Amino acid sequence: MIIAVDGPAASGKGTLARHLAQHYGLGYLDSGALYRAVARDVLATGGDPNDEKAAERIADRLDPASLDDESLRQHGVSEAASIVARFPSVRAVLLEQQRKFAARPQGAVLDGRDIGTVVCPDADIKFFVVASDKERARRRHLELVESGTELEYEAVLSDIRKRDRRDRERSAAPLKAATDAHLLDTTNLDIEAAFMAAVDLIDAAVDRAGRTC
Ligand code: CDP
Repeated sequence: MIIAVDGPAASGKGTLARHLAQHYGLGYLDSGALYRAVARDVLATGGDPNDEKAAERIADRLDPASLDDESLRQHGVSEAASIVARFPSVRAVLLEQQRKFAARPQGAVLDGRDIGTVVCPDADIKFFVVASDKERARRRHLELVESGTELEYEAVLSDIRKRDRRDRERSAAPLKAATDAHLLDTTNLDIEAAFMAAVDLIDAAVDRAGRTC
């Protein structure tokens, strides 16, 4: 079974996807970590995230072992990630890695921006997770403060809006809901409630397909 979870920044898609993977015994890939790792490595080598060739070279040599690193969550890396994510050549390299992950025999949950539309258009079930931008900024601000980053809430809100706009308006695999995605608005849902709503939809889809997980 393949589950696609897409949505804008800090919508709760990562937490939901991780919980679903655990619940159904599937592999989990945070595709944003790939774009973040490219951005982090471009910045670390003194490069410019707007330089497509440099970003492509780094994407090509990405070390999978470096994807599980706190440095990926740094605020500056989020902004740079959405800059390198505009480039079709970078997306092409990372697309291959994501498709390989999705093809593992035990199935997978992937979260990102274009999982349901581009990476896994034939996923068994798709979610598009949204929340108001103020609620998303509140959550991201809390995460940043807890990890020791001092940043004003207003700055987080404005950066999230800017990044969403860039992700939606780019021509390569823009952020958008697949036509067959279930919309999940988590503005007023906690993690448990969002998880239960998703599990109900998945179990109903599995029943309809006459399969067992
Ligand atoms: O955690 P958050 O929602 O803030 O971001 P993320 O999922 O880690 O993604 C960081 C950035 O990577 C996004 O703003 C997108 O520009 C890019 N991205 C993408 O273009 N396609 C994906 N499938 C995943 C992320």
